[in-house]
Amino acid sequence: MLALLLLPLSPGWASAPGVAPRIVNGDIGAASEYPWLVSLIVADRIARDGVFQSQYCGGVLTTPTTVVTAAHCVVNQDSGVLREPSGILVGLGPSLRNPTPRLVRVAQITPSPDYVIKTAGNDIAVLTLAESLDDAVTLTPVTPQEAPTLTALGSPVRTAGWGNTSTSSKSYPETFRVGRLVVFPDGTCGRGESYVLGGVTFRGFGSREADPAVMLCAAGVTATGQVIDSCQGDSGGPLIAGEGDAARLVGIVSWGEDCASRYPGVYTRVAAEIDFLASAKALPVAEQTTLTVAPTVTVAPRSGRLVATITLAPDAGIATAFAVNAVDPATGQVANCFATPRPSGLPAQCTIEGLANGTAYQVTAIAGNDEGNSPVSVPVTATPLPLADPGTIRTLRSPAPGKVVARVTPTLANGTELTADQLVCRPAKGGREQVVEITGPRVTLTGLRPVRHLCVVRAVNAYGALDSSPRRVSVRG
Ligand code: ARG
Repeated sequence: MLALLLLPLSPGWASAPGVAPRIVNGDIGAASEYPWLVSLIVADRIARDGVFQSQYCGGVLTTPTTVVTAAHCVVNQDSGVLREPSGILVGLGPSLRNPTPRLVRVAQITPSPDYVIKTAGNDIAVLTLAESLDDAVTLTPVTPQEAPTLTALGSPVRTAGWGNTSTSSKSYPETFRVGRLVVFPDGTCGRGESYVLGGVTFRGFGSREADPAVMLCAAGVTATGQVIDSCQGDSGGPLIAGEGDAARLVGIVSWGEDCASRYPGVYTRVAAEIDFLASAKALPVAEQTTLTVAPTVTVAPRSGRLVATITLAPDAGIATAFAVNAVDPATGQVANCFATPRPSGLPAQCTIEGLANGTAYQVTAIAGNDEGNSPVSVPVTATPLPLADPGTIRTLRSPAPGKVVARVTPTLANGTELTADQLVCRPAKGGREQVVEITGPRVTLTGLRPVRHLCVVRAVNAYGALDSSPRRVSVRG
């Protein structure tokens, strides 16, 4: 429950000033060093309470038309309802009072589709501005390639915002504050490990509270042993690594256990959100050069269709689309599908539909951008087969020692006879598979070791076996 303690201060919404406590033990920020830092203002409070009282979160300009902030700043924490774009104004400028910031309207709000209110997982959203700020200075989100060096354990990072500066009362700065922090080990951000910084022993969050895959823990300690942390009102603001032109947005203020306590602050891990930021057009447009290297394609046969997975070497350039062709060599007939590249480097996928089972197709892929197309990939041969489509695991939990219970959707036999339809689990770190035949939507498997397992639905017919995508579960001991 630690995760939610700080969030709904005014009912359902992230804290607004006046009701919530704000960076503790920070410094006055040099405004010129944070030109992309913005404040989020509750539009309909300004008339009554003024801008200063109506600030409730922070954000960062990542392009002239986009602000990156926390999803919990735009999604009602009780109802899950998204704020209206007209309800939020973006404030430009270091001060909330004398002078007040320049206010910019918001045209669209896009929270991550993977945001989970309960755990604050993937706590990120993009605000698309109603106008383009052509003179804007922006901060670039870190890529998964840059992240390992910029967010290595012990790296110096900074956070900035107009949040509470006090742990005992409510004290809000008119000008944003900066907190100088250090990146904590992942073990403090989901494995309950403690960490000593500047003579202070910090406690870690356990796996029920934090997930280091999508969260990053950080805190600082002053020369006199005071903890430096973000606080209420700082949410949505940046965690920054690197200096000058090399500075990158590596985190977003998300949650904590009180402020400046014996726990680090928790930040959304931006490197894990790069595909979402690309889809919301919140990344600076990379320069497109002629693609001289072909992508590679692998193909998984299904009944009447082929699932193509396309990868382009990271140094081959920036592609904006992939196209995959399947040719029937006997007739010359062509079918195709298109995929969008993912900046995380995760392979892109698309499915070519309407194919004949038993026909061996020649499959090739090309990558394209504004400069033209890449060479064509090496062809692969693939034959759609009437394999059964395995059902999917909808929920998977371990209610008792050694036991898992899955809820599954039915396997589709695709006109064939199933020889097996099974739930299969094996230890994530390797080991023997445990199998049980599926007889209904609720499947129970017992006798598992108390470690993390990966489970799939496996559908077998005369043409072969197919596994559903795996789900993880920690088996109780
Ligand atoms: N959720 C808070 C907000 O809405 C931010 C909390 C950050 N807390 C921390 N201890 N680092 O402003």
